[in-house]
Amino acid sequence: VVDISKFYKESGMFTLDPGFTSTASCESHITFIDGDEGTLLYRGYPIDELAENSDFIEVAYLLLSGELPDEDQYAGFKDDITYHTMVHEHFKQFYDGFRRDAHPMAIMCGVVGALSAFYHDSTDIHDPEQRKIASHRMIAKMPTIAAMAHKYCVGQPFVSPRNELSYTENFLRMCFSVPAEDYEVNKTLAKALDKIFILHMDHEQNASTSTVRLAGSSGANPFACIAAGIACLWGPAHGGANEAALKMLQEIGTKDRIPEYIAKAKDKSDPFRLMGFGHRVYKNYDPRAQVMQKACHEVLDALDIKDDPLLEVAMELEKIALEDEYFIEKKLYPNIDFYSGITLKAMGFPTSMFTVLFAVARTVGWIAQWQEMLEDPNQRIGRPRQIYTGAAKRSFVARDKR
Ligand code: ACO
Repeated sequence: VVDISKFYKESGMFTLDPGFTSTASCESHITFIDGDEGTLLYRGYPIDELAENSDFIEVAYLLLSGELPDEDQYAGFKDDITYHTMVHEHFKQFYDGFRRDAHPMAIMCGVVGALSAFYHDSTDIHDPEQRKIASHRMIAKMPTIAAMAHKYCVGQPFVSPRNELSYTENFLRMCFSVPAEDYEVNKTLAKALDKIFILHMDHEQNASTSTVRLAGSSGANPFACIAAGIACLWGPAHGGANEAALKMLQEIGTKDRIPEYIAKAKDKSDPFRLMGFGHRVYKNYDPRAQVMQKACHEVLDALDIKDDPLLEVAMELEKIALEDEYFIEKKLYPNIDFYSGITLKAMGFPTSMFTVLFAVARTVGWIAQWQEMLEDPNQRIGRPRQIYTGAAKRSFVARDKR
């Protein structure tokens, strides 16, 4: 009999860290989080300063290159991105293979992976120039692809990109223009969406980013890696939480029902959790949630939506939870997803598109992290080990003898 436990005793040190709560998978220069303080920095800059004062293109440049661009660098990067906003005519045919009632994230998982079949030059991941082009292609095409998923699901024709518009103005137009009526860009909404995208761009080694890095560590082509990230992001414990948070607020419906839901969230025999609350790293208010709450008010004001019942329920729920012993003891605070659903819904996005928008923004972080990984001289394939707890070695017994 082989003693399996002997293998571990003699194999040097093994660490078991389910959920990777205290294991760093890499070194990174990109994003810093102090969960106890509620701090989030992109390349050293606080997230709230970037969200208030910058825009998508500038922050994307910062995350990719490490520094804020000067005027020429900004203009050059903007040109590089807008150059790639179109998708191949054949690419559009993939959408027809989906049912109209498909979840747009299901479409995204499929079509983004399919980009691998169009750009064979980008498979040379060891060529820095090709890596750069692949990165620009993905950042540029993601809004086009996401808007097409939306249009397909609502049964309307695709809208081509307009390169004279800003990144978010163009995205809003591709989502909301209809044949009879071109979308008139609402600058306040575009600015708010810019903020929302900046808040979502990167968050160090979260589940989807780790997925992109792990997929990329085998040398897989970049489009396939991003498709893997999208699949991971879809889960309700990650990017799907904004959709789940809005559904929960709608289900609660009125302020008087809040205590019932708080009690459910505290009941250990009930799997229900308050969606949009809690975070693996933040044990304080998520700094993105504060900016998001402000953006939510700006959007509702711009659209002249007064006394939004969902916002009222959300604010009351937050107030009650923050004073509740259970949430205080477990350090559960609203996360970015708590207010993003209300904001995106007010902008006119269907709930099923929320995680898609998250994917558009997070693409920048995924790409920055993928590039950083490939540039690391110590880069090796990601290959976690395990602690085996199964059967000891045994001999095969023929079926008629069992
Ligand atoms: N409601 C009620 N209780 C909660 C919640 C919640 N939202 N979140 C955590 N808890 C409790 C757990 O039941 C657990 O209690 P226990 O100690 O009695 O077992 C304790 O707090 C710790 O929770 P864990 O699940 O161990 O924490 P973890 O770090 O693994 O999970 C997560 C973090 C997944 C975000 C969790 O807080 C959660 O499920 N929140 C709701 C979903 C959500 O909003 N996700 C978005 C995350 S942000 C993002 O992806 C952009």
